[in-house]
Amino acid sequence: MELVSYFELGDSEKLLLGEALKALETAYNPYSGFYVGAALQIGGVVVTGSNVENSAYGSTICAERSALVSAYAKGLRKISMLALISKGEDFDSVGVCSPCGSCRQMLFEASQVCNNDFVVIMSNSDKSEIVKASIGELLPLGFGPEDLGVDITKFK
Ligand code: THU
Repeated sequence: MELVSYFELGDSEKLLLGEALKALETAYNPYSGFYVGAALQIGGVVVTGSNVENSAYGSTICAERSALVSAYAKGLRKISMLALISKGEDFDSVGVCSPCGSCRQMLFEASQVCNNDFVVIMSNSDKSEIVKASIGELLPLGFGPEDLGVDITKFK
């Protein structure tokens, strides 16, 4: 886990964060007014997602899972990186956009599928604070297919 400045990011990391920033504008967020954008790097392709809320609040899907499901629906599973950024309706988020517990669990499974403990770049609204952490750092001792004795080789 490391705290970095925007200028320390590599070109591909900056580009991915830029895609996440664009994606947050598509958020369907009438209830919270909170905007989250996620961008997955999968080979040369970027798949984005934003949060999709629901009047039955618990049915809301976070930006991370929205991007993940979108990628899987395209048959894209070899994730190399994820970028996240958020903002409020009328305020900038002070802290970095850190995935919720459900998203960490889904991202952990995705990391098992692609055999890659990929890095998540988490940013606050104005990119003045950025944290980089791997999925294993975000969810240590994660529960996965192996724990159920399930072989996911054919999905890799
Ligand atoms: N949200 C995300 O999309 N990702 C996160 O990492 C944290 C929370 C969304 C869900 C909901 O639409 C809004 O932010 C407020 O919780």
